[in-house]
Amino acid sequence: MKYKDLIEKMTLEEKASLMSGKDFWQTQDIKRLGINNMFLADGPHGIRKQAAAADHLGLNASIPATCFPTAATVANSWNVELGEQMGEYLGEEAVAQGVHVLLGPGINMKRNPLAGRNFEYFSEDPFLAGKLAAGMIKGIQSHGISACVKHFAVNNQEERRMAIDTIVDERTLREIYLTAFEIAIKEGKTKTVMSAYNMLNGTYTNENIHLMRDILRNEWKYDGVVVTDWGGSNDRVAGLVAGNELEMPTTAGETNEEIIEAIKTGKIKEEVLDENVDRLLDLIFTTDKALKESQKEINQEKHHRMAQTVAEESIVLLKNEEQILPIKKGTKVAIIGDFAKEARYQGAGSSIVNPTKLDSTLDGIKECEFVSIGFEPGFDRYGKKSQKKIDQACALAKNADVVLLYIGLDEVTEAEGLDRQSMEIPENQIELLTALQKVNPNIVAILSSGAAVEMPWIGKVKGLVHGYLSGQAGAKAILRVLSGDVNPSGKLAESYPIHYEDTPSCYQFPGKEVSVEYREGPYIGYRYYDTANVAVLFPFGFGLSYTTFEYADIQVAKEGVTFTLTNTGGRAGSEVTQLYVGCKSTNIFRPKKELKGFTKVFLLPGETKTVTIPFDDKTFRYFNIKTNSWEIEAADYELMIGASIADIRLKDVIAIEGTGAPLPYDQNELPSYYSGKANHVSQEEFEQLLGRKVPESKWDRTKALGYNDTIAQCQYAKSGFARFIFKTINFSHWFLKKIGKRSTANLIMMSIYHMPFRGVARMTGGVINMPMLDGILMIMNGQFMKGLRHLLKERKKKVKREKLKTTMVQATKEM
Ligand code: BGC
Repeated sequence: MKYKDLIEKMTLEEKASLMSGKDFWQTQDIKRLGINNMFLADGPHGIRKQAAAADHLGLNASIPATCFPTAATVANSWNVELGEQMGEYLGEEAVAQGVHVLLGPGINMKRNPLAGRNFEYFSEDPFLAGKLAAGMIKGIQSHGISACVKHFAVNNQEERRMAIDTIVDERTLREIYLTAFEIAIKEGKTKTVMSAYNMLNGTYTNENIHLMRDILRNEWKYDGVVVTDWGGSNDRVAGLVAGNELEMPTTAGETNEEIIEAIKTGKIKEEVLDENVDRLLDLIFTTDKALKESQKEINQEKHHRMAQTVAEESIVLLKNEEQILPIKKGTKVAIIGDFAKEARYQGAGSSIVNPTKLDSTLDGIKECEFVSIGFEPGFDRYGKKSQKKIDQACALAKNADVVLLYIGLDEVTEAEGLDRQSMEIPENQIELLTALQKVNPNIVAILSSGAAVEMPWIGKVKGLVHGYLSGQAGAKAILRVLSGDVNPSGKLAESYPIHYEDTPSCYQFPGKEVSVEYREGPYIGYRYYDTANVAVLFPFGFGLSYTTFEYADIQVAKEGVTFTLTNTGGRAGSEVTQLYVGCKSTNIFRPKKELKGFTKVFLLPGETKTVTIPFDDKTFRYFNIKTNSWEIEAADYELMIGASIADIRLKDVIAIEGTGAPLPYDQNELPSYYSGKANHVSQEEFEQLLGRKVPESKWDRTKALGYNDTIAQCQYAKSGFARFIFKTINFSHWFLKKIGKRSTANLIMMSIYHMPFRGVARMTGGVINMPMLDGILMIMNGQFMKGLRHLLKERKKKVKREKLKTTMVQATKEM
């Protein structure tokens, strides 16, 4: 242990006190031993440091900070160095605001396009997500503070996010859901990991020994800190045993007492606590030292420009018929769409940043060389169809050479805590587009959304620029792409299915009661579409440029693939070249192609460069469930260099020696997985893959409600009072939506409806403790009077204890 001497000087109470927060954002300090507190703050694409009232839902304002593009956007840059630079900027701002641990990046896989936090995550591909995250972490940590990669792991839906049990087979877990974390930890060397709210195969992630000890500590040799997601701690002692150093936010010491009790009664050894304290102390001392030594001033304008650069590299050009883009000098453009007036540039929830400034399209257009003939909103951002607005927009569009139509998803639709209900953009925007096309077919749509949307309207636009959620400087960056000042080089980091029903997990998303079954196995995103030959609207890795590139001369060596790339068009531009690998053997089922490398290359017109994409330890590996380790199958492997998964330009084959492991599966038992058509896997076949029976996925409605049941489960509670509460919550939600208060309605779902009862104690900073919660549960389970008496008795006890504590502290101070 690094801090053995110091730990020996600490009392048991002091050690336990470090294991949970002092308040909502800070850790505990022990001044007499020179141990300061740390400040933790969101979030992935900007600092959300709350100076006053604290919350984890992004409700109360935070200190202004640069709002960079969200991860879903940055991922489209496929530029690891750029991610690292953005991390450096984030780290600098974190330091300036006195933040020790920056709660990001978020790297969960995009299993389903409707998952509510997709905008905060990078990709459906673990390799891409891992590499970008590693870069960002390095950047943040170059200032000596800590990043915090989250949410570890399999946290892929918002519905019942604090209670859902994710059922996934070991190979899929390793290859798809953990690989990005593995890269972030081994290559990015993150100093902090945030555990996820959900359970993994029956155990809460922060208590899951397999995840936290076998994999994270023993296999990956991680020696940093694990912090719970806010309010995500269930059994504190079990968490500690699994190596969860820090519980956030504060529980006013309640769970520290549980640790002390467990040690005193011999349930766990004091060494377990010491090991956790040792790792936490290291984080506290190193980050605190860095904060003290670092510079505190930031140049906001420079940071704003960096946000613009990141956005410029991340914007994706999806359609460019008749070369409508870039817009030529002097062209008369009509600016239409509410999003042009107020940019949609980030998502809602804990990642929300209070930007230092916000670029606007209507201001920025004045600097462009094309001529704006006016602006019309065309639709209500949150409302129904407005014929008047459509008519006004059409009147303006008639006189334009080109219509720039700003559309997308609104802020309320893409929010933490809530999954989207559909992949559509609002109907009133499509109605507007339909009307516009009749008066002027030269339409360029500029789309803002942090996740994939359906586009049945794509035929009505000639140009489509996807800005994603491009941060505070996004509006300007988009204009520069439209004008051609920037040649777009972003490529999609996720697939765009034609219909939601095409997605492999659509029948298993979201889990609505006890669990969610990942029956599609490793076939998420392009791994499914490409293998099962399901047509998509836009494939993974796709993005257009104003120039063209030619790929030639593939050469394969032991170390990697080399080829030449030439810019064959008339403009300088960057191309994201991608290496996909496919195994020729059919012994073990796998996706037809998997991304194993990429590089972004900048070329002047006519220029040629030799490009090498190296192999690494992940290029040929698969996880073998028989040997419980990574293996290589002896086989021929196809190496494919592509401009997207669907646009392979060069191919070659390499024979690779295997590790000789036994074949893990019986092909006859897993037909869907061997064919890749894994969108409709039966329970029996999934159980074959899993190697065991799936647990009951429905609630046992005869059972009394417990700590981990959610408020939503009051719908079948024994007590009429509980059922009444449920109905009231449901009604309020419905009513608020009806009167247009969607964001407050969402809040009810997120912070009440889907909250487990345990959260009532874990998230109230000690106002309600666990014994009081027992009283509440008695009430909910039909023992109204008994429960009420218990609640009041425990409350009285708590107040008395607190008074005694205050008196003792006072007395010590006076001594
Ligand atoms: C989110 C985390 C966030 C934390 C603190 C939680 O609700 O899941 O991503 O870092 O709150 O705001």
